[in-house]
Amino acid sequence: MKLRELYTVLKDVLKEASESPGSEALSILSKVTSQTRERLLMNFEEEIDENVCQMAISLSKKRANGYPLQYITERCYFHGLELYVCEGVFVPRIETELLVDLALELIEERSFKVVADIGTGTGCIAIAIALESRCEVLATDVSERALETARRNIERYKVHVQLLKGAYLAPLRSVLDDVQLIVSNPPYVSTRAELPADVKKEPHEALFAGEDGLEFYRNFFSDPSLLARKTIIMEMSPEQEGPLRDLLKGLGTLTFLKDQFSRTRFFRLDVA
Ligand SMILES: C[S@@+](CC[C@H](N)C(=O)[O-])C[C@H]1O[C@@H](n2cnc3c(N)ncnc32)[C@H](O)[C@@H]1O
Repeated sequence: MKLRELYTVLKDVLKEASESPGSEALSILSKVTSQTRERLLMNFEEEIDENVCQMAISLSKKRANGYPLQYITERCYFHGLELYVCEGVFVPRIETELLVDLALELIEERSFKVVADIGTGTGCIAIAIALESRCEVLATDVSERALETARRNIERYKVHVQLLKGAYLAPLRSVLDDVQLIVSNPPYVSTRAELPADVKKEPHEALFAGEDGLEFYRNFFSDPSLLARKTIIMEMSPEQEGPLRDLLKGLGTLTFLKDQFSRTRFFRLDVA
């Protein structure tokens, strides 16, 4: 089969499930042929090996059944970076890019030197901050697979980010006094929420935080004395503003911030 015909078949398989079937078909073709999208576009009349055709069709069907494209291509994009990602690791979202910008502004304004990213996943936030500031960056996660993925991305960008395994503040205990800024995009989805098919394929521990979606925050802020005089910026769901206001009452100065879609998406807490 010619590449042109295969592309049409894949686009057809993907058209119900995807908003951009042409682009997704090209990404899958790029993965199975190990050629860039640009090169593929220049070689549309090339004959493609039958095994490669079958592999591309089978991956497109998997995608059409709700498997995330990023797990197929093992690639995702964040804050101008191309990162490795695989099944079992959360795929970075565009909203979170703003969390990096908010962190970088604060680092500049307040001359912060040590930053910790809690629940680093692919390492996206930590790597972006390490590349764009002079801070010492620490990054934690409970998931071994996430830490392996972050390690791979850190090596790729040749940045210095110290990875630590564990939950909440536990892995930072010995260095916590030095940490001035904590950033996190934690799990904040309610276990009662109905999620789209592709999101459901992402790791449970990266998404869900109990029935009300607040479990991570409750545990993280359970001993505020550990956080004295630190600044914390976290991602949240827009409808959590009220409950978070109650949960964080009396801990310091609390500010809610909007994302690029004008929805309340982050809070900053300057702990007293
Ligand atoms: C929503 S994902 C965010 C990943 C990455 N920071 C991003 O923005 O793409 C949440 C991450 O937190 C990790 N995680 C979940 N519970 C945690 C906990 N109690 N302590 C540290 N990390 C946790 C998950 O393994 C997952 O990688």
